[in-house]
Amino acid sequence: MKHTRIKDLLNATEYGQQITVKGWIKTFRNNQFIAINDGSTLGNIQAVVDFNNTDEALLKRITTGAAVAVTGPLVESVGKGQRVEIKVEVLEILGDSDPEKFPLQPKKHSLEFLREIAHLRFRTSTFNAIFKVRNALSFAVHQFFYERGFVYMHTPIITGSDAEGAGEMFKVTTLDLDDTPRNADGSIDYREDFFGKPTNLTVSGQLEGELAAMALGNIYTFGPTFRAENSNTTRHLAEFWMIEPEMAFYELEDNMDLAEELLKYVIRSALDHCPDEIEFLKNRLLEEEKNKPQNERSEMDLIAKLNFCLDNRFERLTYTEAIHILQRSKPNQKKQFKYLIEGWGTDLQSEHERYLVEKHFKKPVILTDYPADIKSFYMRMNEPDDEGRLTVAAMDILFPGIGEMVGGSQREERYDKLIQRMKEMGVPTAEMDWFLDTRRFGTAPHSGFGVGFERLVLFVTGMTNIRDVIPFPRTPNNAEF
Ligand code: 4AD
Ligand code: MG
Repeated sequence: MKHTRIKDLLNATEYGQQITVKGWIKTFRNNQFIAINDGSTLGNIQAVVDFNNTDEALLKRITTGAAVAVTGPLVESVGKGQRVEIKVEVLEILGDSDPEKFPLQPKKHSLEFLREIAHLRFRTSTFNAIFKVRNALSFAVHQFFYERGFVYMHTPIITGSDAEGAGEMFKVTTLDLDDTPRNADGSIDYREDFFGKPTNLTVSGQLEGELAAMALGNIYTFGPTFRAENSNTTRHLAEFWMIEPEMAFYELEDNMDLAEELLKYVIRSALDHCPDEIEFLKNRLLEEEKNKPQNERSEMDLIAKLNFCLDNRFERLTYTEAIHILQRSKPNQKKQFKYLIEGWGTDLQSEHERYLVEKHFKKPVILTDYPADIKSFYMRMNEPDDEGRLTVAAMDILFPGIGEMVGGSQREERYDKLIQRMKEMGVPTAEMDWFLDTRRFGTAPHSGFGVGFERLVLFVTGMTNIRDVIPFPRTPNNAEF
């Protein structure tokens, strides 16, 4: 039988119409009032059972978590809390849920507990809201690029290269690990492996993206990427989704402009398309922060924070300027940083990034022109600065509460400089000849960046652990489900 989505019913004004609703029972009160949710909205529809004329055995099966179909007229509700309700004429249990065993009873559950039952947590309002926002953001990303004529590229998941040169890769092999074929010198003989050479899961689609951009102009990838870094933090996943645009004829400034425009566009889109979900998440956060001391609570609520981000230009400054600010900062002078800023050249730790965005500027910050030594081989070398220091045309976008949201750069398009950098940094040039071809034949300035999609979802949902914004997180020692 045809059924109606609860989302459409909650706003209905046509009383008396006969409808069927299918969903899962949230609560059953007074042997009479069933709250049903079908996932289409955070709201439940109330279905009222005439318990005097309902079989006792059937009433017993109306339990939290059970799947039901109810049919009856939609009527104006006399009770508080809802405008409409269904007067149940037919009730069918589609799937029972044993109340002794169903773990999601109507009470507050911790996020840690819900992570252990990630297969069921979609049923909660919090995760309903999070995954709706994730969906809206994802759609908005495609919309943003589509409107601007970017071509969506599907770059490979299995590759033979290390795009970041950081060596944090998961190997892909069909070799029998208990009996690997060996060369005379004892090393593994990859000629016998599936691809005839070592392969890994991609850490980034950038290098293939560059190839496409150098023909199609503007492209982007949006897919899963994998990092075998052993970082057990609230900001790192071993499998995460990354948005990576790559643009021919863009310089660093154009790159920053596009990144800022993209982030604002998708955040605005989420606010427009998920107002109820974001309102719910705002209240969830307020509730959660009640348990924290005043000085650890957010200064703004979630919606104010998102609007603030939309209304203000991201602060732009160089790494060198940031180092000056950090050196003079209170936590550095008072030795409160775990890693003190000794001078120019050190990589920024998350405590430093957070100081800049949360304490100093109090808004998103774009840091540019990092020391060449701490950045990837493909970033374009700047002219040495006044003191002869080498920097690259990199840009990182840092967000309050998140840290690094975006990493990008203008690319080194000059063949000789690129080769030199690759050699210095130990990146194999022979295996990456295909990449170098773009610099041999019609090379041109180009730029791109990568947005960590889950970090974006974290920011927009106000959640604090990255494991709660991807359905099934993969982290060290955890690949459940
Ligand atoms: O800074 P990253 O490593 O840059 C790249 O991969 C470039 N190839 C991107 C490009 O220029 N096309 O990663 C980009 C972003 C980071 O800023 C961060 O938001 C996210 O990806 N990220 C992670 N997110 C979750 N878990 C991890 N382990 C992440 N590592 C990076
Ligand atoms: Mg980075």
